[in-house]
Amino acid sequence: MTTLKEYKIRMSNKFKGVALSGQPNNTKPTTDIINERDENLKLEKVMLPHVIERSEKFPHIYLEPLNSSIGTVIHGIDMANVSQEEVDYIRSIWLKRKVVFFRNQGHITPAQQLEFASKFGDLGGTHGEWHNEPMLIMTGKKGFEELPTVEGHRGLMKLYANEKFPNAAANWHSDVTWAPKPPIGTLLLARKAAPVGGDTVFCDAYAMYQGLDDKTKAELQNLRAYHKGSPYGHGDISAIHPVLRTHPETGATALFVNPTFTQGIIGMEQDKAVNLLKHLERQMYHPEYQCRFKWQDGSVAMWDNRACQHYASGDFWPHKRLMERCIILGRTDEEKIPFYKPIMNKL
Ligand SMILES: [Fe+2]
Repeated sequence: MTTLKEYKIRMSNKFKGVALSGQPNNTKPTTDIINERDENLKLEKVMLPHVIERSEKFPHIYLEPLNSSIGTVIHGIDMANVSQEEVDYIRSIWLKRKVVFFRNQGHITPAQQLEFASKFGDLGGTHGEWHNEPMLIMTGKKGFEELPTVEGHRGLMKLYANEKFPNAAANWHSDVTWAPKPPIGTLLLARKAAPVGGDTVFCDAYAMYQGLDDKTKAELQNLRAYHKGSPYGHGDISAIHPVLRTHPETGATALFVNPTFTQGIIGMEQDKAVNLLKHLERQMYHPEYQCRFKWQDGSVAMWDNRACQHYASGDFWPHKRLMERCIILGRTDEEKIPFYKPIMNKL
């Protein structure tokens, strides 16, 4: 099992790699190299070309797709004041695009953030189902501290990142797959974004499955995987899920293993299982299946954990940021419990 110390060393290696990639022979402190680079980057004004689509039904809404199969920025929405028709439209885009984004939502209150999320499912605790909730978190030096939640809102978790805690979930995963009933969605608001870096990358889990060769697809049909996690160091919680997951709303098949929480394949020797999992997890590294989101203050991402995986790029230290996350649970067991039914096809 990875210790907190080992984990932090692994994280700091990534930061070091980012800092030194452009200046490999530089002997300055890593933080100085990053700060100098970022100041220079801000001087360059770069406009990226992108496609803007307009909805006929909602002329005030503009869609900005980030990649061909995954990720759309929805412009023209005020999350503090959405109609049911807008919610239905957003949900349809969310299901098709696996992750949607909103800009300029820094004005919403924590209560409004939770109210918006509740339109897409039941509200969960910081780690999904409320019975998973750790009451305290384990920290490296001090022992245990209170959960970093927004005052008065137990389900709204503050995600800090700074020099002390540079972690930015810089590993591929979908959220809380170690739970028997993992969350269907996650909504993340940037109260304070890093000025440079800290993008989140999302990978289309349908494409990860569809891109496999036929032999591998056949091999996966009846396999189940063992997932394990330890929320804030509070004991191990585990679950067994099918390797292939049918999305209950779209009927599409997703690859549902990840290198963060998946530990093995049920009934398979560990060496063979590790090789198979490595082969499957390499799918995440296809840029064609990915979109990448640049955070600004007030930006929001809402992703579908049944249809994509994500990776928070850990390249922004020594800058700080503050994110607030809430979890969306399914409303029925069919929505909550991962299953595989290959004949479903609702798309
Ligand atoms: Fe995550």
